[in-house]
Amino acid sequence: MGLALRLAAAEVEVTVGSRTAERAAQKVDEALERWTDRHLTIGRTQNAEAAGADIVVLATPWDAAVATATDLADALAGKVVVSMANALQRVGDEFQPLIPPRGSVAESVQAALERSHVGAAFHHVPARLLGNLDQPMDCDVLVCGDRPEAVAQTEALVGSIPGLRPVTAGTLSLAGAIEAFTGVLLNVNVRHKARASIKLTGL
Ligand SMILES: NC(=O)c1ccc[n+]([C@@H]2O[C@H](COP(=O)([O-])OP(=O)(O)OC[C@H]3O[C@@H](n4cnc5c(N)ncnc54)[C@H](OP(=O)(O)O)[C@@H]3O)[C@@H](O)[C@H]2O)c1
Repeated sequence: MGLALRLAAAEVEVTVGSRTAERAAQKVDEALERWTDRHLTIGRTQNAEAAGADIVVLATPWDAAVATATDLADALAGKVVVSMANALQRVGDEFQPLIPPRGSVAESVQAALERSHVGAAFHHVPARLLGNLDQPMDCDVLVCGDRPEAVAQTEALVGSIPGLRPVTAGTLSLAGAIEAFTGVLLNVNVRHKARASIKLTGL
């Protein structure tokens, strides 16, 4: 929901999807409650209708991403679909990366969506930072994808949010490393009570 808030604050037309329209409405209303002074507009509907957007961000828990994408494959055909899920498991007080089929969530989603163009992005932006519109962001967002239109449109979406700099990383073969590194960041944030993200130097 933090990403939807940031996009809306950047005046991007955004619709939140859900398995039920009621839950979409409830989630959006809850998210907007804190920001009534900002006049944000966020649409809310079922996933199948939200999949009609020009660009679609798949933002489910990692182990629901492929099933959700598969259900929506026809509606997503020809579109850029952004994968942001990280395959992580909490073991004790540590987040540990898992290796999904094909090496990453993003590659699994691309395999399920042969007619779509998958871009991977947003993995390292802390949820609390995204959701706090009072806090400026200053983060790099690594973007990868196998198809040029996926990378270009995903980077344009990232770049529409003030404080986020899209950085092209390469093909989806890099997505596994990007997703796994989120576990490192989460553990750093837990240990240091921080909201660290990434900012590359020398670029
Ligand atoms: N939160 C962030 O800022 C952030 C930052 C970087 C990366 N990520 C990644 O983005 C993904 C989403 O993060 P989140 O914090 O928004 O997760 P979340 O709140 O746990 O889940 C997002 C939505 O996924 C849907 N969902 C849950 N279980 C599902 C299932 N079994 N099948 C289909 N849909 C299901 C739910 O929608 P309905 O129940 O309404 O259908 C839920 O509202 C995660 O994989 C996370 O690793 C998140």
